[in-house]
This record gives sequence, structure tokens and C-alpha cells, in this order.
Amino acid sequence: MTVTLILGLQWGDEGKGKIVDLFAKDYEYIVRFNGGDNAGHTVIKGEEEFKLHLLPSGIFYPEKTKIIGNGLVVNPETLVKEIEVVENRGYSLKNLAISSNANIILEWHKLMDGALDKSGKIGTTKKGIGPAYSDKASRTFALRMSDLLLPENELATKIEKIAKHKKKLFKAFDFQEFKTDEILQAIKKTAKILRPYITDTQFLLNKAVEEKNILLEGAQGTLLDLDHGTFPYVTSSNTTAGAASTGTGIPPNKIDKIVGIAKAYTTRVGEGPFPTELTDKLGEKIREAGHEFGTTTGRPRRCGWLDLVILKYTCMVNGTTEIVLTKLDVLSGLKELKVCTAYEIDKHKTSNFPLEPAKLEKVKPIYKTLEGWNENITECKKIAELPSQAKAYIKYIEEQTGVPVKIVSVGPKRDETIIV
Ligand code: GDP
Ligand code: IMO
Ligand code: MG
Repeated sequence: MTVTLILGLQWGDEGKGKIVDLFAKDYEYIVRFNGGDNAGHTVIKGEEEFKLHLLPSGIFYPEKTKIIGNGLVVNPETLVKEIEVVENRGYSLKNLAISSNANIILEWHKLMDGALDKSGKIGTTKKGIGPAYSDKASRTFALRMSDLLLPENELATKIEKIAKHKKKLFKAFDFQEFKTDEILQAIKKTAKILRPYITDTQFLLNKAVEEKNILLEGAQGTLLDLDHGTFPYVTSSNTTAGAASTGTGIPPNKIDKIVGIAKAYTTRVGEGPFPTELTDKLGEKIREAGHEFGTTTGRPRRCGWLDLVILKYTCMVNGTTEIVLTKLDVLSGLKELKVCTAYEIDKHKTSNFPLEPAKLEKVKPIYKTLEGWNENITECKKIAELPSQAKAYIKYIEEQTGVPVKIVSVGPKRDETIIV
């Protein structure tokens, strides 16, 4: 029996959805443990494509159990819609379980997210993620999935009480108003649909650990982690390996493999420092070639060279046991490829990722130039079939990070994958 954790090693959108779907055939449980519908995970089977925000990326396997862990903040309306879309397209979700401890996102969280990030300072997804996690941490105004199991009148009383406090707060800060009635109507509807799925997933998972293979699916990426990321330009949850335990209740010593997904270059959506960003034509070329537009918001993703200072740091804080390198195909046709190996900060050279925001703003990347390749590599099925320059690129990443690259993804489809 094995527990495998899959997570992102950069700023999200590394291709976690594709890789979770690829792994899923060997696992009976597929579990999300953090974030909410700020995530957008693409899964493709043949001609079919889904962009999932809350459901674990195992939907192509109706017989497998999918779990929304306690670490998530869940917008019930988004979830209900997503369930409908997936089921209407013929994939049953009868094996879905939602943690009773997962927290709930309501309309006021979204409005507050919009108001607080009005100037786009952080560039959040405006899904209400930060305000919902704030309510969870401050405890007083939080609603959990277990509240949806209350008798309707008790749930309504609880929401009305919170709404009263929120109204006062919204007035004081001149935030856009919300209608408590509408929120109540909506939650009554969604509660009816979601109730059968809500359960104490900690018990379910700890029983499963003894008998079944479990796949844990991270959202966002390590540099968006609230503690270890590029604060304040981060999300409001932990996205790193430790969160897989706190967000599910599976103890850390039960996790066997930690698979870090890294894109062959770097992207970021939203604001914040990005040392290897390419703001020129080349950045645009990579964006076009990699279709780098947000899965959740449609925003163009900022693109840049691969940054090994970042990968070394993110492999370290996650205890990454293997790397999956994605989107290598996107780099085809570039004459030379730069890889950042160190930073210069105030004339000093360092290969440690700086954690002080002021330092990070100042870094100048130091590059090593590697040879590019011209061949289209999406049809390659073995490492041996890759051009020598692509093999050298992969080898260099392994040498620098000290972590083996076990899978190379050369296209968005399942079979466009090289198992090393
Ligand atoms: P996630 O958030 O980490 O699951 O990633 P997203 O789904 O937001 O973004 C990754 C995008 O790249 C999706 O459109 C995938 O279909 C696509 N993709 C994944 N792997 C590859 C790959 O190896 N090559 C190419 N060209 N596209 C890929
Ligand atoms: P997946 O799981 C990329 C970014 C937002 C913003 C910051 C804070 O698809 O990799 P939030 O709404 O979470 O408060 O926004 O985090 N962000 C992501 N960027 N991929 C994601 O998820 C992201 N989820 C949040 O763009 O910069
Ligand atoms: Mg995404």
C-alpha cells in the first residue's frame, strides 16, 4: 500500500492535473488537501477535456474514491456546478466524499476578496480564498461543511448571525453589499445536494491507508505557500508537503513518495517578484507556444526561464523524492535555453532562494546557457528518442537539484509522456 503526494514546485499551473490523472489508474483514492476554486487543473482523456477547480483530478475513474479534504475552502455553488458538469458528461461521482471539516466560501468572502484586492496588488483570483481562510483562522465567523448537515432552520440561524456581523464590517469599510436572503436561498439548495457526500474523511482515509493506494493532489505551487512562498504575493493556504497531512489527517510518516511537478520553464499569474521573467518577445513566444493563459481566470501567465534556485529551494522544503518535468515540448525551436543557477544580490552571489521580500525584489539572475533543439518532441516515447540537447537539459536539472527526473511530459495528452 502506498501514499503518493503530487505537488507543484513553482507558482502553480505546472501540469498537476495531467500528472494526477496519469497516476490515478494505480490508486484507489484521489484526494485534494488545500486551496479552493482558485485552482484550475486540466485533465484530458482522448478528445475530452475538463478544467477542474474543486474535484480531485481522478474524475475519469468513476469507481475510485475522490475526496475533498478538510484543508480546503469550498464554494458550495462552484462545487455543485462542477459535479453537475462532470456527471452530465457521463462520469459518475457516486464515490465522492467531502470532509465535514472543510470550510465554506460564501458570497461575502468573494466580495471582500474583490474589495481588498481592488487595486490588483496581489492579483488574487477573487474567489474569496483569503477571506475564507481568515475566517477559519479567526474561528468566530467560519462555516464548515458539517454545518450543512444541521436542520435547515439551525443552519439559517447560524448564517443570519454571521451575516449581521459581516454587514457591520462591510458598512464600516464601504464594501459592496450582499443580500443575506439570496445567500440563504442558495445555501439551502446546495446543502441538499452536497449532504450525502459530507463525512468524517479522516477516518475514511486512515482506514484506507492500511488497505489501498492513496494519491494526494496539491493545488497551487510551493512559491504560493503562505509560509514558504513569496509572501505577501501568495495564496492563503499551505501548498507544501506538510499541508498534505494537515489537510487530510493522513499522518506524515504514512506518505511514501513526494512527487514535485516542475514546468520546463517558469510561469506565474498574478503579481509578485519573478526573477527570470521574460517581458520581451521571447516571453510572448513561450506564452503562445505553451498556451499560458490562466485556467481559472483566463489571465495571461507571465513566462520566464527555468529557475534552479527556485527548484532547489522548493525540492528542499517539500522533501521531493522525484521530479516530473512538464511542457518540455514548449521549448522546442529555441536556439538556446537559459537556466538560472544563482542570484546576485547587492553584488553578492547566492544560490539560496532569498526569503526576505526586499532582497527578492533586488535579485539579478545568473544564467547558464544550454543548447536548444529544433525537433518536435511530442511523439517521443522514450528518453533515448529525445534530441541530445533535451537530454542534457534534463540531466542538468537532476544534477543541480539532486533529485531524479522520473517522468517527462511532452504534450498535454496522457500518452504524450515519457516514463524514464
Ligand atoms: P495545474 O494547475 O498544475 O493542473 O496546471 P493547469 O491545468 O492550470 O495548466 C497546465 C496546462 O498545460 C494545461 O492546459 C495542460 O493541458 C497543459 N499541459 C500539461 N502538460 C503539458 C505538456 O507536457 N506539454 C504541453 N504542451 N502542455 C501541457
Ligand atoms: P493551480 O492549482 C496559479 C495565485 C493567484 C494570485 C495568488 C493569490 O491551478 O496551480 P488567491 O485567489 O489564491 O488568493 O490568489 O495566487 N494562484 C494561482 N496561480 N495556479 C493556481 O492554482 C493558483 N491559485 C492561486 O493568481 O497570484
Ligand atoms: Mg492551474
